[in-house]
Amino acid sequence: AMPNQVRIVEVGARDGLQNETSVPLAAKVALINGLCDAGLKHIEGGAFVSPKWVPQMADSSAVFAAIERPDEVLFSALTPNLKGAELALQAGVGEFAIFTAASEAFANKNINCSIDESIERFRPVVALAQANGIKVRGYVSCVLGCPYQGEVSAQKVLEVSQQLLDLGCYEVSLGDTIGVGTANQVESLLSVLLQDISADKLAVHFHDTYGQAISNIYTALKMGIATIDSAVAGLGGCPYAKGASGNVATEDVVYLLQKLGINPGIDLQRLAQTGAAICRALDKQPQSKVANAVLAH
Ligand code: HMG
Ligand code: MG
Repeated sequence: AMPNQVRIVEVGARDGLQNETSVPLAAKVALINGLCDAGLKHIEGGAFVSPKWVPQMADSSAVFAAIERPDEVLFSALTPNLKGAELALQAGVGEFAIFTAASEAFANKNINCSIDESIERFRPVVALAQANGIKVRGYVSCVLGCPYQGEVSAQKVLEVSQQLLDLGCYEVSLGDTIGVGTANQVESLLSVLLQDISADKLAVHFHDTYGQAISNIYTALKMGIATIDSAVAGLGGCPYAKGASGNVATEDVVYLLQKLGINPGIDLQRLAQTGAAICRALDKQPQSKVANAVLAH
C-alpha cells in the first residue's frame, strides 16, 4: 500500500555535481543552504572519495565546513573506505553512505574492486560509524541494468542488499544508475526483494535517462517504498557510468507527492528557485518540467 509519509534524500550536491567540472565552492554552499531553506531534511552534501577518481568532490571538507547546519537537517556523504570515513567524521557528517553494485563489472570500474572486496572494505567504515553513533546507508548500483555487463538479476540485487544490511546499514538505496528501467521491471525487482527485506529498509534512486523515473517511483510507492532519492533540477550522473544522465528531479517528486496527498513539507517554489540558481552557475538548462512550470507562474 501507498505510504502516508515519504522521506526524500536530496542528492543534488553530490550525485548532481560529481560530473560537473569546476563548480565554485560558493555555488555548492549556496545550493545546500537553499535546499535547507526549501525544507529538505536529508541532504547528501558531498563525497569523501579519492580526488584522483572524482576531483569534482575534492572540496567536500570545505563544503561541510561552510554550510549552515540547521538542527533538523541530516547531512550525509559518500564514504567508500576508511580514509573517506575518517575525513567525513572530521567534517562532522551525520551519516555515512557506502556504495557498491549488483554488477561486478561496474564495481570494478567505479570503486576498483569486486563486490565481495567492497563489502570487506566497508567493515571498518561501519565500525567507525558505530563507534561514533553515526548511521550508515548503503547503495547498490545497477539494479536495473549495467553499462558494462547489461542484464543484472534481481537475485544478485537481493544478495548484495542483504550483505549491506547484515553489515549494519539501516537502509539500502537501489540505484538505477543508468536510468534504463521501466515500471514493470521495478515491479518485478521489488517483488523479489520484498519477500526478504521489509519496505522500510529500502529506498529507490532512479536516474532519468529514458524519462521513466517518475513512473518507476510511482510503482515503488505503490509497493510501499517510502524513501526516494532525487536531485534538484534533475542534476546528476556518475563519471563511471557512461551514458547515465541526471537523477529524477526533486521538483517532480515533490509535485507527485503533493498530488498524492502526501505532503513532504517542501516549498516547491523555493526549491525550483534553488535549482534555477545552481543551473545558472553551471550554465545548464533545468531538466525539470515541474520546475519550469512553477517558475513560469
Ligand atoms: P584505489 O585507487 O583502488 O584506492 O581507489 P587506493 O586505496 O589505492 O588509493 C589511491 C589513492 O587515492 C591514494 O593516494 C589514496 O590515498 C587516495 P596516493 O597514495 O596515490 O597519493 N584515496 C583517497 N583520498 C581521499 N579520500 C579517500 C581516498 N581513498 C583513497 N576516500 C576508491 C578506490 C574507492 C578510493 C576509488 O575507486 C574511488 O574513490 N571511487 C569513487 C568513485 C565515485 O565516487 N563514483 C561516483 C559515486 S557512486 C555513484 O554515483 C552511484 C550512486 O549515485 C548510486 C547509483 O546511481 O547507482 C551512489
Ligand atoms: Mg546515482
